[in-house]
Amino acid sequence: MESEHHPDKPYVLATGEKAVSRLDLLEQIFGPATRQLLSAAGLCSGMRVAEIGCGIGLTARWVSTQVGAGGSVTGVDSSPGQLRVAAEGAAETGATNLSFHEGNAYETGLPRDSFDLVYARFLLCHLADPVKALAEMSSLLKRGGILVCEDHDDGGIFTEPATHAYKRLVEISDAVNRSHGLDSSIGLKLPRLFREVGFRQPQVNVNQITVLRGEEKRFWELTLREAESAILAAHASTSAELDAICEEMRKIAQDESILLMLARVTQVWARKPGSPGDRGL
Ligand SMILES: C[S@@+](CC[C@H](N)C(=O)[O-])C[C@H]1O[C@@H](n2cnc3c(N)ncnc32)[C@H](O)[C@@H]1O
Repeated sequence: MESEHHPDKPYVLATGEKAVSRLDLLEQIFGPATRQLLSAAGLCSGMRVAEIGCGIGLTARWVSTQVGAGGSVTGVDSSPGQLRVAAEGAAETGATNLSFHEGNAYETGLPRDSFDLVYARFLLCHLADPVKALAEMSSLLKRGGILVCEDHDDGGIFTEPATHAYKRLVEISDAVNRSHGLDSSIGLKLPRLFREVGFRQPQVNVNQITVLRGEEKRFWELTLREAESAILAAHASTSAELDAICEEMRKIAQDESILLMLARVTQVWARKPGSPGDRGL
């Protein structure tokens, strides 16, 4: 199916130093499952890997330890601020097989048919034309190379018992996404989108991330605060309502009788068909 392209509106969350605390928390929450995913998909020593929408480079740094000195990792992001933090972090580790480049997911500028594995996490949910980005990622892979993506869908965010704050979070998120031409259900659509760009037999795994206590339970409160300007610009809420929602979220975070379904993450991976007639993994 031909994808319909909407021009992207600016990224709605913080970048650079202001993004660090939330992306560190994001890594704490989602990092373990990401590492399992990449290992299950076939990440190994010596591979040439690209990560698109790499943020501050936390996953890329771990991948660089897996591919070793004989492999390499190239992180791409459209935000110079994220890349500055990523490069500083990489310099601290002394990794020589890790580099970062400014680029757009639709047209990365990376060499075609060159990578063994291409990976993206929580990137496609920010893009108005995810199929175009997937096609670009596919074009970077060698034949037989592995495409790995993970993303969430807003249906996986709720509390038990139900709370006003989290119901409104999903409504507000959906309103902002619609105003930016973004899809709140992108995670669950990933297997279908992989097929659209030629990966006919994708593998899939879905994780429902659930928390009862700890800093992780404040993830959406921090995210809402970062997205405040975009929310107000989309007329999806008001400052007064956001204050009230964040206050309720803080109380929920301290209340261990409330279970927070933090996110449902769909992980998809597949091999690029290696020869005519090869159906891929
Ligand atoms: C939610 S963050 C995720 C970062 C990282 N993948 C992670 O999981 O920690 C999304 C990232 O995508 C980047 N991004 C957004 N639109 C992009 C585009 N069109 N091309 C490249 N990167 C983009 C943002 O700058 C941001 O760093």
